Amino acid sequence: MTGKPRVFVDRRIPDEVQQVLEESCELDVWQGEDTIPRDELAARLAHAEGYMTMGRRIDDELLASAPRLKVVSTVSVGYNHFDIEAMKRRGVVGTHTPEVLDETVADLAFLLMLGAARRVAELDAYVRRGEWKRGDGTQLFGVDVHHATLGIIGMGRIGEAVARRAALGFGMKVQYYNRSRRMEAEEKYGAVHTDLDELLATSDFVLLLTPLTPATKGLMGAREFSLMKRSAIFVNASRGATVDEPALVAALRNGTIRAAGLDVFDKEPLPAGHPLTTLPNTLLLPHIGSATTKTRDDMAMLAARNLMAVLRGEAPPHMVPEFKAVTP
Ligand code: DGY
Repeated sequence: MTGKPRVFVDRRIPDEVQQVLEESCELDVWQGEDTIPRDELAARLAHAEGYMTMGRRIDDELLASAPRLKVVSTVSVGYNHFDIEAMKRRGVVGTHTPEVLDETVADLAFLLMLGAARRVAELDAYVRRGEWKRGDGTQLFGVDVHHATLGIIGMGRIGEAVARRAALGFGMKVQYYNRSRRMEAEEKYGAVHTDLDELLATSDFVLLLTPLTPATKGLMGAREFSLMKRSAIFVNASRGATVDEPALVAALRNGTIRAAGLDVFDKEPLPAGHPLTTLPNTLLLPHIGSATTKTRDDMAMLAARNLMAVLRGEAPPHMVPEFKAVTP
């Protein structure tokens, strides 16, 4: 025994992050290529005081197998995989990694808009199949992003980073739906606060960035898609469960909306043969919003700092807001 707190990390982490953790913790890192099996995870957590993860479901049953646990530090801004009430009952706090990924996720949201508008995946496949035999024809045409109207649902820091690109770089009109007004986005990017139905009815691109909460689960369903313009494109860079997926498939199939760019799905990894994969008007990515080397390294380092701060009895840089009221 070293006297240092025991910490378990369920995936490989950058060397510098490992070194920082090893200075003050007794570290155990899962080296498997695949996700750690549930019973193995429970065994590794039996003596751990800290757990660093990326998206593992933290429920009461798992917590019961980790009686010494004080903190779960997720390497993500989203924390919908935390059962907050169970964690509070068992005296475990949660931390997350906002801010360091804002610009990277905003880049990806923009890529999904551009890629769906200009049919990038579909036309890349067309070239690879050797079907490009003549100059272009109308069958290859897409729609413009520049000077179109963008509606952002969930205007947090990532939304503001997208709004900046849209307004200042692409001359787009930006409108947004959010519980609270974002005065900086209004002043700097001319963003207009609207209600949800108006945003849906008047946007050329509808971008979903809201966190997944009980209030946002299934936020986009058949009614919402039917309110969108038939020429509009839907983009989701939040969480899959914010969308009623069968309703989205129907809207794409029936021409209720033009196309979709999606980085997140109800079930991930997206099962082979899923209806979304059979539609030509979808651009599908494997949940890579924050996945650049630098940003993921920064997220891992921030997660390590969050975790160590809690174990030292200090306020971490980024406690999940729901825990702020219960900690000193
Ligand atoms: C996040 O950090 O929540 C992003 O979705 C990447 O997982």
